[in-house]
Amino acid sequence: MHVHSYEKIWLALGLGLILLLIGSVTYGAVGPGVAMVAADEPTVDPTALDEDERFADPRVEQVGENEYEAYVVAYQFGFEPDPIVVPANSTVTFMVTSRDVTHGFEVVGTNANTMVIPGEVSTLTVETSEPTEYGIICNEYCGAAHHGMEGKLEVVP
Ligand code: CUA
Repeated sequence: MHVHSYEKIWLALGLGLILLLIGSVTYGAVGPGVAMVAADEPTVDPTALDEDERFADPRVEQVGENEYEAYVVAYQFGFEPDPIVVPANSTVTFMVTSRDVTHGFEVVGTNANTMVIPGEVSTLTVETSEPTEYGIICNEYCGAAHHGMEGKLEVVP
């Protein structure tokens, strides 16, 4: 009888651990995804970008003395605007969304890199220094011409 009740305790403990594990896995899978959309990433209707104030006319806008916002649309197979022209020695926040499928937005040779998901706005802020030119590439497979999907970032004086 004694042994039997110990077994029950271990069984209950084991079951508890399994439930905990399932709980943490579920939380891990759902938690960050929800947080990204709700907290930092404003959403957007990918089928109505023409009606969106930010993305109807993809552009770079000055928002402060040395601060700019770049509204960028990724599509099969390019980026708009192209080139993206920003001033040297400034802070630029990119807001990137997709018109169709999931793309990537990577400024080659820098750590500026994000995934671009339809319906979400990916934001990333960079500091520019010297005038120069960067390539922009897509690093999420997005279709037949994925490897040719390129843009340009020009940092001008
Ligand atoms: Cu867009 Cu790969």
